[in-house]
Amino acid sequence: MKKHLGNALTTAAMLAGLALLGFLAFSWWQSRLPGSYDVMSYGAIDDGGAPPVAHEHFSVAGLTGPKGRPDVSVKLTAEKAPIRLASGQKVDAWTFNGRAPGPEIRVRRGQLVQVTLANKDIDDGVTIHWHGLDVPNAEDGVAGVTQNAVEEGGHYVYRFRPEQVGTFWYHTHQDADQGVKQGLFGVLVVEPMAKRNGLDLALPVHTFAGHTAIGTHDDAWRKAVQAGTQVRVRLINTDSASARFRLAGMRPAVVAIDGAEIPPARIPLGEEIEIGAGGRYDIAFVMRSQVASIEVVNSKAKLVLSPDGTGNISEATSGPVFDPGARTSGYTGYAAAKFDRTFDLTISKKVGFLNGRPGRHWALNGELYPRVPMFEVSKGDLVRINLDNDSSSAHPMHLHGHHFIVLTRDGKAVSPWSTDTLLMLPHERYSVAFRVNNPGLWMLHCHNLKHAADGLTMHLMYASVTTPYRVGKSAHNDPE
Ligand code: C2O
Ligand code: CU
Repeated sequence: MKKHLGNALTTAAMLAGLALLGFLAFSWWQSRLPGSYDVMSYGAIDDGGAPPVAHEHFSVAGLTGPKGRPDVSVKLTAEKAPIRLASGQKVDAWTFNGRAPGPEIRVRRGQLVQVTLANKDIDDGVTIHWHGLDVPNAEDGVAGVTQNAVEEGGHYVYRFRPEQVGTFWYHTHQDADQGVKQGLFGVLVVEPMAKRNGLDLALPVHTFAGHTAIGTHDDAWRKAVQAGTQVRVRLINTDSASARFRLAGMRPAVVAIDGAEIPPARIPLGEEIEIGAGGRYDIAFVMRSQVASIEVVNSKAKLVLSPDGTGNISEATSGPVFDPGARTSGYTGYAAAKFDRTFDLTISKKVGFLNGRPGRHWALNGELYPRVPMFEVSKGDLVRINLDNDSSSAHPMHLHGHHFIVLTRDGKAVSPWSTDTLLMLPHERYSVAFRVNNPGLWMLHCHNLKHAADGLTMHLMYASVTTPYRVGKSAHNDPE
């Protein structure tokens, strides 16, 4: 009797073991990504609580920018080239036109901009995404979603007419994690139609092979500036981790965040500016007859301004961080708004297989890529997303083609601000709103590009949109 029971138990254990093995094998097999697939064939469609409005099907490929004679034409050639940082440090970079950062593009609002991208020798291909600029979908530069990656010897033409004024940047969106790290990015500034006076400097921060630099200045970048000059600096974080800035010798104010002007918000003495990956802050101040400096905390990179271009900055200690939700304003009317759709998006970690790789991976609403949610919206909707960072990492969440208005943090109302890359600190919760006004298929992903490459990415789709492009190894498109 005992023996029989023992045998039965062993058999049961063996069967359970086999079932578990079978389940694991199935999960592994099921998690592997095909060589070529439509991002829309994956994902769990979430309509945010309202049935989608049916339209005629329309393709991403038709959503191109305006025709006509461009006011500004730029050619950007992606090529591998050595660059030299100001300290003399040499870096083997991937560049646009032999430079990293690539050429700064400055245009006026309303101008028709045409950029021709050519790929000289980036084996895996290249695209250009205009980060923060709400361009028509076919100009958005996402490999396998809005275009095919430009292969060696190929080219692609982007056309758009910026209606926003502010600080943006451009970067490859093919193998973005590696490509941006290697240097395939640059500054894009849209100036108002009437030019402002004073000094206007874009300061893209990037870590090249371990050396943090402002532009190519990995040490003190000195500039002579007359007292009384109105100065505007555009801080741009092109790295995948947050960057902190320490300001001294000035009375600065934040005047724009992520390419949206705000009423000037004074930065109290000692407060630092923290910018999540991909984010931008514009700072304005009037130059005085003393040294003014902007340092990238935990690095040697700094901008040092003084009337005669010399002088030293005083050592400062780390201070509190400027909170945009406490100071800025200008977006009212959302608190009482009725939303057409409301989505929940929770970021966590989960054990499972990611493309056949076992481990603890990023999960969106409890699912690993590609089974992540797909938010479906209709043009004209006012949408709310409740974001929950249920993890102990920071996630700068970036939505293409639209801007979020931040409404609440950890359940409490904030003074709303506009952002395209919302830095969510560990365990923070946010509620954001946006107007669905730019048809297409748009990425929503973490701008820690390593996280995105590890599955922290999904899409927002307009009802009835289709894409002719495919993601995957054999399709040669890998946006992350
Ligand atoms: Cu700055 Cu999807 O990117
Ligand atoms: Cu992240």
